[in-house]
Amino acid sequence: MNAYDTVRMHDVMRPLGYAASDTPEDADLVILNTCHIREKAEEKVYSDLGRIRDLKKERGGEMLIAVGGCVGQAEGEEIIRRAPYVDMVMGSHSYHQLPEMVTKAIRGQGGIVELDFPPEPKFDYLPDATSQGASAFLSVQEGCDKFCTFCVVPYTRGAEYSRKVSAILEEAKRLVDQGTMDIMLLGQNVNAYHGEGADGRSWSLADLMAELSKMDGLKRIRYITSHPRDMTQDLIDIHGEEKIMPYLHLPIQSGSNSVLKRMNRKHTTDLYLDILSRLRKVRPDIAFTSDFIVGFPGETDAEFEETMELVRQVNYAAAYSFKYSPRPGTPAATDENQVPEEVKKLRLARLQALLQEQQMAFNAATVGKTFEVLFDRDGKLEGQLLGKSPYMQSVHISSQNAEIRNQIAKVRITGGYLNSLAGEIVVPNVLTLGTRYATL
Ligand code: 5AD
Ligand code: SF4
Repeated sequence: MNAYDTVRMHDVMRPLGYAASDTPEDADLVILNTCHIREKAEEKVYSDLGRIRDLKKERGGEMLIAVGGCVGQAEGEEIIRRAPYVDMVMGSHSYHQLPEMVTKAIRGQGGIVELDFPPEPKFDYLPDATSQGASAFLSVQEGCDKFCTFCVVPYTRGAEYSRKVSAILEEAKRLVDQGTMDIMLLGQNVNAYHGEGADGRSWSLADLMAELSKMDGLKRIRYITSHPRDMTQDLIDIHGEEKIMPYLHLPIQSGSNSVLKRMNRKHTTDLYLDILSRLRKVRPDIAFTSDFIVGFPGETDAEFEETMELVRQVNYAAAYSFKYSPRPGTPAATDENQVPEEVKKLRLARLQALLQEQQMAFNAATVGKTFEVLFDRDGKLEGQLLGKSPYMQSVHISSQNAEIRNQIAKVRITGGYLNSLAGEIVVPNVLTLGTRYATL
């Protein structure tokens, strides 16, 4: 979501003559777009700000500094108090106000703080989204009403809101016209999507994806992040559609029903496992990823072992796992049964070892297979291209074929590593170039 917001900040600032800079040293305006979800978010911001202050000094003060995103939303005035060289602080819904804030800051009115949520959704205030290349994010939903007891999102991003179907389809069309083939639909609770359609009906995420999959030129559709409670049968069924990638990030957070209850997740492990098995019926090759929190207040050894057991049962392609971190203002933060840091550390190490083993096995099993890979980035090495497999694995090839950049090509996987795959282009290779076909 932050990556998408950053792209939209570029869109907002472009008409004022601003363009993205590769390094902060060259920048007239530095915006820290921050995330508040996990530990030490504020400290990280203040330490980054310290470094940017030094750059500002080196330029004789000729640099504007802005803090945006959820730390901005949560800390507000406090940032200006602790770091008076910051010119502007804006919340997660205020970046449409950037031009006005920058203009004021240039006039010397520093210390500007904008934290209000606009009366209408922020999307309505933004210019058209511009191209992000072959793979693009498209925000369809924002905010969250679920109030998991550990999570700050409902407070920093506000209530759940779904964009209108027509606005989403128009944005998708514009992106595809500019060469996008792969769209990641975004939302903090994306599968709670219930936007208003032109027919006056409320559309589900499955309805939206069914419509998007009719769009010529759009080849791949994914969505992130989902909640198990909103995995309705229509959404499960749409995974049988070819353009919906065989990949789903469905966080469960814990494998223990008692912990899930204390987290206010409002579902059980049985429901979660049942969803996965229904998805596997519709799409047998589907890969699953998840998020986990270890050391949630009161988590016992036995409850943690239930998480380990669930992970063994599911067999994940990859997963993110975190130590619980008390977030100010959330119910779990004031729970008296905080788990000692040492215990959290040990549990995290054990869980991550198991998840890494599964990730390695998943990647290794792809060796010898042929996948369609969308090459959307240059690799680190000269001539290297980086792409994504249908299962969201990074695939690198050492190819000089410029035609493959921003295209989908058939690739034989030759190496499977923990964080990436190596491959070689299948020759002859039929490439889909929009509606044309070319043979390499
Ligand atoms: N502590 C640790 N991890 C958290 N997450 C959210 N809040 C916290 C917290 N207080 C994790 C969850 C969520 C992911 C985006 O961040 O696993 O799914
Ligand atoms: Fe946070 Fe996700 Fe729970 Fe919403 S559903 S409160 S975003 S963890």
